[in-house]
Amino acid sequence: MAVKLLTILLVGVLLAALQGSTVAQNCGCPSGLCCSKFGYCGTGNAYCGEGCQAGPCNSSGGSSGGVSVADVVTQAFFDGIINQTAGNCEGKPFYTRAAFLSALNSYPGFGKGGSANQSKREIAAFFAHVTHETGHFCYINEMGGASKNYCNSSYTQYPCVAGQKYYGRGPLQLTWNYNYGPAGRSIGFNSLSNPGIVATNPDISFKTALWFWMNSVHSVINQGFGATIRAINGAAECNGRKPSEVNARVQYYKNYTSQFGVSPGDNVTC
Ligand SMILES: *[C@@H]1O[C@H](CO)[C@@H](O)[C@H](O)[C@H]1NC(C)=O
Ligand SMILES: *[C@@H]1O[C@H](CO)[C@@H](O)[C@H](O)[C@H]1NC(C)=O
Ligand SMILES: *[C@@H]1O[C@H](CO)[C@@H](O)[C@H](O)[C@H]1NC(C)=O
Ligand SMILES: *[C@@H]1O[C@H](CO)[C@@H](O)[C@H](O)[C@H]1NC(C)=O
Ligand SMILES: *[C@@H]1O[C@H](CO)[C@@H](O)[C@H](O)[C@H]1NC(C)=O
Repeated sequence: MAVKLLTILLVGVLLAALQGSTVAQNCGCPSGLCCSKFGYCGTGNAYCGEGCQAGPCNSSGGSSGGVSVADVVTQAFFDGIINQTAGNCEGKPFYTRAAFLSALNSYPGFGKGGSANQSKREIAAFFAHVTHETGHFCYINEMGGASKNYCNSSYTQYPCVAGQKYYGRGPLQLTWNYNYGPAGRSIGFNSLSNPGIVATNPDISFKTALWFWMNSVHSVINQGFGATIRAINGAAECNGRKPSEVNARVQYYKNYTSQFGVSPGDNVTC
């Protein structure tokens, strides 16, 4: 009896862990379903209400004080970033506010799920990381990225395709087959055969950044900006590993929260 109970408990724990990890990595719900704040697919208030990350979320985002992202990310704000890049940057004609807003339609949970001030902090955090990752929207492709495949063949569900390389591309520099795979499945493009489309289609490119954000960063924003650094590149930068990189991200974040008229909040570093 006791042994049976233990077995049942163990199976339950394993199932929960498996579900948690697969869904958290890939909340690519079939159309018509919402991705809940915990990363599960379904309908109704528990999925489409507060914290809903993607799919047909309630237009309000289900949250009290959410702001309109388009009202915060004005053309002047966007230009303030991209105008700092040289005219010959590959990202200059590629990254546009319109492309960001178009991709955002698929991620109505972005910048929602908290107070208006918290929304503005999330938007500031997203653009701080994007500014850092792309050099003010200069780069689409990782510098020197073509020298590496970024293929980890132990992720057999996302098999690398011969001749393709999964180096950093787009606003948050999507990297590795195990990120391209689930991103493509969720967004709806053949990411393993054609990863290069992330560098040629601005809508898909911004969607990959928002997909990564909603799956790996959105849920930690309440812990402060430092937790977002940890989620994006913590192993390489946090705990004193690369203080100058951390500091660069923090400075952009403080600048953008200041432009939006909110305090940066606690725990900005990592
Ligand atoms: C959100 O939408 C769902 C599904 O349409 C509905 O059941 C729920 O009442 C809505 N919740 C809010 C807070 O609007
Ligand atoms: C803040 O960012 C804007 C671009 O968005 C830039 O023009 C300005 O120089 C930055 N300010 C500081 C203090 O870095
Ligand atoms: C950015 O550059 C454009 C085109 O040169 C210009 O019209 C705009 O005023 C600039 N905006 C900012 C915020 O620097
Ligand atoms: C590939 O992923 C596995 C599982 O996460 C990890 O243990 C391994 O170190 C990775 N290999 C490379 C070359 O990154
Ligand atoms: C939002 O931030 C502003 C500026 O920092 C502050 O004055 C205001 O009290 C904050 N609102 C809430 C509800 O915390």
